[in-house]
Amino acid sequence: MKARVLSGIQPTGSPHIGNYLGALKNWAKIQYDYDSIYCIVDLHAITVYQKPEELRAKIEELAGMLLAIGIDPRNSALVVQSAIPQHAELAWMLTCVTPVGWLERMTQYKAKSQSQETIGDGLLQYPVLMAADILLYQAAIVPVGDDQTQHLELARDIAQRFNSLYGETFTMPATHLPTVGARIMGLDDPEKKMSKSETGAGHAVSLLDPPAAIRKKIMRATTDSNPAVDYETMGAGVRNLLAIFQAFSGWSDENTRAHFTGMRYGDLKKQVAEAVVAAIEPIQERYQKIMAEPGFVAQVLANGAERVTPIAQDTVGKVKRAMGLYTAS
Ligand code: AMP
Ligand code: TRP
Repeated sequence: MKARVLSGIQPTGSPHIGNYLGALKNWAKIQYDYDSIYCIVDLHAITVYQKPEELRAKIEELAGMLLAIGIDPRNSALVVQSAIPQHAELAWMLTCVTPVGWLERMTQYKAKSQSQETIGDGLLQYPVLMAADILLYQAAIVPVGDDQTQHLELARDIAQRFNSLYGETFTMPATHLPTVGARIMGLDDPEKKMSKSETGAGHAVSLLDPPAAIRKKIMRATTDSNPAVDYETMGAGVRNLLAIFQAFSGWSDENTRAHFTGMRYGDLKKQVAEAVVAAIEPIQERYQKIMAEPGFVAQVLANGAERVTPIAQDTVGKVKRAMGLYTAS
């Protein structure tokens, strides 16, 4: 039997090249080596307010995008988190074995709670729900970007604590990071990670940006006061552009370094922009075709839910029995 892979992405904003290089590209790449489940995590999205009609539309759009980047529904289950009630059910049981102190230490919680007037309890519980997503399917591998490593350590801590309190129940999930592109920074501010919630026009390249917009954003990216690429002294902006190029082109460190050393920033940016456009254009064409087929995405999501439900029921049954909760059998 193949080991199981699970990962998730929130249906907020539009997916950008950071999501693609940090996670989605890997999802497509490794899907055939594993029993793969990819989850659109709408219950995570509502930890901050989302306009209902927008959220509803974004779920199917994101599913279409995941298919366009190459998630193969004949191979991988594509599911919406809120369609499988066991995610929330297991999250409660895991909440009860999770010390609040563990959650208050999470850097994403600290950052997100600073920007809110009132801090919803969901923001604190967020990583417990994420642990539930993973443990529900007994996933062995979780492909994510670098910003999720702390949440994954927490998921392992929760699994371990549950196993030691109630007996071996959960598989320990391993973090799977890409070698290049695990942390793509904002084009306008290379000290900040590229994020869907940043609204600045020059911040992120969305996977749906037209080629002209992609070129414009990359040509305007923040660099540093050097005139040309110098690996010894380059700042975070140039390093980020080189990482984007490398991740899209698949070039080695040595080839990239040899090719770009001494190149003026204008030329560097042109080449980065062309590498991004070349990779994204075919994805956009597939996306348009997928979204033009009425009912296709909904059918894929229904099939995904049907496929994963028995696994989810099985785990929740085990957890209930382990904890002494009421089950009919
Ligand atoms: P999110 O958009 O927060 O749901 O993230 C979905 C996936 O994209 C997760 O695996 C993240 O780790 C990854 N990700 C998000 N932003 C970036 C980034 N700037 N660089 C690399 N990976 C990212
Ligand atoms: N928290 C993740 C993010 O924002 C999304 C996520 C939710 C996830 N559940 C998951 C990722 C389970 C991996 C596994 O990027």
